[in-house]
Amino acid sequence: MLNIALPKGRLGDQVLSLFSKIGFDCGGIYDGDRRLVLESPENGVRYLLVKPSDVAIYVEYGAADIGVVGKDILLDGSPDVYELLDLNIGKCRICVAGPEDYVEDRESVLRVATKFTKVAQNYYNAKNREIEIIKLNGSIELAPILGLTDVIVDIVESGRTLKENHLKVLETVCPISARLIANRASYLFKNDVITSITEKLREVLPQ
Ligand code: PRP
Repeated sequence: MLNIALPKGRLGDQVLSLFSKIGFDCGGIYDGDRRLVLESPENGVRYLLVKPSDVAIYVEYGAADIGVVGKDILLDGSPDVYELLDLNIGKCRICVAGPEDYVEDRESVLRVATKFTKVAQNYYNAKNREIEIIKLNGSIELAPILGLTDVIVDIVESGRTLKENHLKVLETVCPISARLIANRASYLFKNDVITSITEKLREVLPQ
């Protein structure tokens, strides 16, 4: 059995649809129910539905052989895994955002709310800008609204969350998309099947 860690939620649905396009269909065994393990013995795969930010942990420790994870998680966590393929889905960007009327005070330490602490620190280190990071786990946009921080470093997809909270993009840090990753030992010992899946996925990726 090849264990495949998939992110639960919207991205997971897109990934399941990609896998069914290459013949690893689990449409018949999954209807959005609460199961966390979906087995497809005829295809020799077992899908593990995990929290998106945990996919790389399952793969790094070998509980899953391969997985699909956002580049944001890879950049911020630097897990010890192979990155095999850009799946060209789950596209968004990490941005610096702030209030619509924001004017930066370059004399003071910039206060930044984010869940991507490493990405934010690296970004501002490269700019030689002193910052204080306040790590939040969600609803990051609240921080500048309440005056907790000056700006946020967060994912922007449609831009709707920023707009509806009177915030705007100030700078783009980097583009993000979903990546196929593999456990290092699995890549060695299950190379045939992992390479075959990678190549088949490459052929059906959205442009
Ligand atoms: C993410 C991100 C933004 C939002 C961006 O939040 O942190 O809040 O999506 O999407 P948009 O540009 O299309 O509005 P998520 O839904 O993951 O929830 P979170 O607040 O728990 O991070």
